[in-house]
Amino acid sequence: MSRGGRRFRRALIPAGRRCMLAPMKDTLRIEQTGAALGARVRGVDLSRVDDPTAEALRAAWHRHQVLIVPGQSLDPAALVDFSRRFGALEASPGSAEHAAGRQGGVPPEVWIISNVRRDGRPIGALGNREAAWHSDMSYVPEPARASVLYGVEVPPAGGDTWFADMYAAYAALPDDLRRAVDGLEVHHDASTTSAGELRRGAAPVVDVTAGPGARHPAVRRHPETGRPALFLGRRRNAWVVGYPLAESDALLDRLWAHCADPRFAYAHRWTVGDVVLWDNRCVIHRRDGFDAGHRRLMLRTQVRGEPVIPWRAR
Ligand code: SIN
Repeated sequence: MSRGGRRFRRALIPAGRRCMLAPMKDTLRIEQTGAALGARVRGVDLSRVDDPTAEALRAAWHRHQVLIVPGQSLDPAALVDFSRRFGALEASPGSAEHAAGRQGGVPPEVWIISNVRRDGRPIGALGNREAAWHSDMSYVPEPARASVLYGVEVPPAGGDTWFADMYAAYAALPDDLRRAVDGLEVHHDASTTSAGELRRGAAPVVDVTAGPGARHPAVRRHPETGRPALFLGRRRNAWVVGYPLAESDALLDRLWAHCADPRFAYAHRWTVGDVVLWDNRCVIHRRDGFDAGHRRLMLRTQVRGEPVIPWRAR
């Protein structure tokens, strides 16, 4: 474990909760979750992934969209190294906390998601409230391709992370909605997190047509699989570019109600040591709230994306 990793564990994880899990054999087994998307991966130690294993994981990720890898023991540097198998990493959305020296030895690519407080200040983002459906960092011109989330401490109940398949959501659109989204662009708001916290330096949005963020096609072509997926980003402060507000809200509400249908979803109940990796280009996710009296500490990396390619239905 690196010096930064040891410092992180000492600073953020109480001694009684630190554990080393036995290394796992590199005999990859991939089992579908049985839900709409996602697969569990066993027989791999993510702290020492070789090239053929990385290739097999990338292929499984394209096929299943979400990979769940239980039983891992990673320090933040090892999480960064593994995540780089999927591409160059973005600086974390919490890089201001990092610059302010409040990330306790965690590299700048790692975002701490936690309700834990130290010296009265939160050590991470999103607190204990529900986080609404979204696609990570969709509010920038080249949104994150993948996210990797690692469970360091998890509450006994609540805090489950839900994933929904946006290929399937697009394919199942009723005809009128499919015609409506064809060629549309949506504005993705940058002012708040998925838990509704105002981002550092952002002002509350008063006019959604002029707020900070990025515009993307509502249906995108996945650059690797070539498949069409709905790409709505997040509902809060969204706007269908060029539409009167009432029409935009009505269309977005219908689209989001469709995407949130449980038939497209897998809900992940966390165990310490789980790593979950997903593809933001074809998956949205949300998180259940949990009791503020319980600790939840997660580390997330985000893999740099590419410009969003519009899907042309005709
Ligand atoms: C996220 O939106 O990436 C956080 C999900 C979670 O905390 O489970």
